[in-house]
Amino acid sequence: MPFEIANDQEIDYRELVRTAYNRCAMDYARQRRTTAEAELYLVTERLAPNSKILDVGCGAGIPVARHLARMFSLTGIDISSNMIALAKENVPTAKFAIADAMETEFPACSFDAIVSFYAIFHIPRQEHLNLFRRFAHWLRPGGLLLFTVARKDDGPGYTEDDFCGGTMYWSNFGPSTYKKFLTETGFQIEQEGIVGGGFGSVDAPEEVHPFFFAVKREGL
Ligand SMILES: C[S@@+](CC[C@H](N)C(=O)[O-])C[C@H]1O[C@@H](n2cnc3c(N)ncnc32)[C@H](O)[C@@H]1O
Repeated sequence: MPFEIANDQEIDYRELVRTAYNRCAMDYARQRRTTAEAELYLVTERLAPNSKILDVGCGAGIPVARHLARMFSLTGIDISSNMIALAKENVPTAKFAIADAMETEFPACSFDAIVSFYAIFHIPRQEHLNLFRRFAHWLRPGGLLLFTVARKDDGPGYTEDDFCGGTMYWSNFGPSTYKKFLTETGFQIEQEGIVGGGFGSVDAPEEVHPFFFAVKREGL
């Protein structure tokens, strides 16, 4: 079965994601588009040079971390050690750490912006509200948040048995739930839309991902 509902209590789905990206880090990096997603301008045009940006689930660092590190102080975290090893090579001017976004800690107000492309849908969706609470804690008031979610509609987590040659796990809500979560955690949504064309170097017009751009409310 190419897709299966992910409801096996014996499987640690977070570990499955880590193992999958450790196995396919090189392949993923080779396939990834090398020009940064245009939507990044939403963040870059509002920040002063050297502002602090966190890239959550940064992968191999190309194109997003590399693009941002040219003007800003960039920290990338990723659960996969092989992805972080590639990111360190690819973007030597940035800081990178192997870390699970649900477990790592940063002091309050550490960052001016947080970006996360194509990563949140690998975290079990029952943890997503808490993830936005964490983002709100790490961002300064007025800080910027830009992230993508899955193009599939709201539904239970599932596995795909042939992602870069192995099993991968996905979990997401529909966009209306993310709007609710953002409001509940102290963000003002400024823009939502679709990142289109696919993450890879081959055009994939059908591969679209909703994105949200939000600002942490002042006074929080
Ligand atoms: C599809 S890749 C996207 C990588 C990069 N953001 C990009 O735009 O190419 C998803 C990344 O999220 C990372 N990831 C998945 N779950 C994570 C978690 N709980 N904490 C941190 N990183 C995670 C994976 O290891 C993988 O590198």
